[in-house]
This record gives sequence, C-alpha cells and structure tokens, in this order.
Amino acid sequence: MLAALLENQSMPIMTGRKLTFPLLYLLLAACLLPGTIRGEDFIDLVQRCEGCHGEDGNSTIPVIPSIAGFSYEGFLNTMDVFRENDRIAIEFQRPGEPETVMNDIARLLSEEQVEALAKYFSERPFIPIRQAVDPALAERGAILHKQQCERCHTRNGAEPVEDAAILAGQWTPYLRLQFDNILSGKRIVPRGMLRRIKKLDGEDIEALLNFYASTD
Ligand code: HEC
Ligand code: HEC
Repeated sequence: MLAALLENQSMPIMTGRKLTFPLLYLLLAACLLPGTIRGEDFIDLVQRCEGCHGEDGNSTIPVIPSIAGFSYEGFLNTMDVFRENDRIAIEFQRPGEPETVMNDIARLLSEEQVEALAKYFSERPFIPIRQAVDPALAERGAILHKQQCERCHTRNGAEPVEDAAILAGQWTPYLRLQFDNILSGKRIVPRGMLRRIKKLDGEDIEALLNFYASTD
C-alpha cells in the first residue's frame, strides 16, 4: 500500500478526491505507527476533531479553541488533564448532535491515538485569529502581560513552550471562558499562574484578552 501511494500520489481514495499532500502524509504517518491504528481510522478520527476544532485544528467557532501548533508534550498533557477531570471542559453541542465534552472525548481515546493526534496537530501551523481590539485596553494588557505572564507565556503568548498554551491570536470568547473556569476551580493550572490570575480584576482580564487578540 505504501509503495502504491508513493508511486501515484494522485490515486483517488474513498471519497474520489485527489490524494493531497497532507492526506498522504497522514496515511504514511498512520501506517508507520507501531500500534494498530489503520490509516482510514486515523483520518476519521482527525475529521471528528476537525468537526469542532476546524480544518487542521484552526477553529472557526469562537468558544472552541484552535489546537494547531501546540507543543507535542503540551497536547499529551492536556489530554491527561481532561481524562483525570483536572480540567472540566465547557460543554459544546453541535446542532442535531448530542452534547459532547472534551473530558469524555479524551477518555475514549487510546494512548496510541492520543500520541498520533498530538503529532498530527502539533505539526499543523497555528493561524492567529483576527478579532476586534480596543487599542487602549490592549496597551494596558501588554504591560500586565510583560510583568506577570511573559515568564511562562513567552513571545507575547505566541510560543507554545513546554505545557503552556498559545494565547496570542486564540479566540477571545474561548479564553474568557477559561479565565472563569480557572477562577472557579473547574480548571487546575500551575500555582504560580493561579496566584497571579487571582489578583487581576475584571478590567485587567479584559485588557489581557484585548492584548492577546492584538498579537500573533
Ligand atoms: C463537540 C465538539 C468537540 C470535538 C468533537 C472535539 N473537541 Fe476538543 N475541545 C472542544 C471544546 C469546547 C474545548 C474547550 C474545553 C474547555 O473548556 O476546557 C476543547 C478543547 C480541546 C483542547 C484543549 C485546547 C486548549 O487550548 O487548551 C484540545 C487539545 C482538544 N480539544 C483536542 C481535541 C481532539 C484531539 C479531538 C478529536 C479526538 C477533539 N478535541 C474533539 C470541543 C470539541
Ligand atoms: C508558572 C508559569 C505560568 C505563568 C506565570 C502564567 N501561566 Fe498561564 N499557563 C501556564 C500553563 C503551564 C498553562 C497550561 C495549563 C494547563 O491547562 O495544564 C497555562 C494556560 C493558560 C491559559 C489557558 C489557555 C488555553 O488555551 O486554554 C490562560 C488563559 C493563561 N494561561 C493565562 C495566563 C495569564 C493571563 C498569566 C499572567 C497573569 C499567566 N497565564 C501566567 C503557565 C503559566
């Protein structure tokens, strides 16, 4: 199968579409995995994620985060955190489908599937989302960020170092909900971060959100 794919990259598959480069890559990656995930199964799985998180993990739904371009380790860690309920996810329902939460989704995945998904999405480019910004608030947010958050969320929140998520160019409505979840204890975050977040007032948070929406 591999040889056939390599020889003829435009070989039509199931859908009759041309086999595009990412798809070929995906099939190869899936075939080379040590476990039992078959190529088509992995494509189905990725498409299920993309149904909410957007093509290549770049979300078009404001309460759903983009997941492209995160670090491999950070992705694995996030899935563990969901599985263990150290992070209670916001619920999201697609029209006509039962409500689905990330905690359940993460628990249904095998370790091999999680590793393959982490590899796949960490290699997709994160496309910063363009959103309306209040320049005065963003300027205030820049100062707060530099003083309190840049230590871990480097390059103005754009760098997915270690386990930290990408903040710059992420959806603002999603991030606002995360601040609520962190402050109410639904999401456990590093102590150094929680301490700083607890000291912020509502306007500080809006300032930071405007700053992250203005950077990429
Ligand atoms: C029904 C919609 C839906 C589907 C399907 C879905 N997700 Fe999610 N996902 C969400 C929502 C909503 C959140 C935000 C959860 C929260 O509040 O913590 C999220 C959060 C995440 C995060 C954390 C991102 C961050 O910035 O911290 C990752 C990683 C993730 N999902 C991966 C996946 C993967 C991999 C799949 C496919 C196996 C998938 N998701 C399928 C809705 C979905
Ligand atoms: C000690 C390091 C550290 C500091 C300081 C820190 N953070 Fe974080 N932050 C993290 C890590 C690690 C994560 C991922 C946590 C997780 O869910 O496991 C994170 C996640 C987040 C998230 C969730 C992003 C998402 O996609 O869901 C937000 C929002 C956030 N941080 C904002 C801030 C702000 C604002 C500050 C400054 C007031 C700050 N952080 C300071 C380490 C830090």
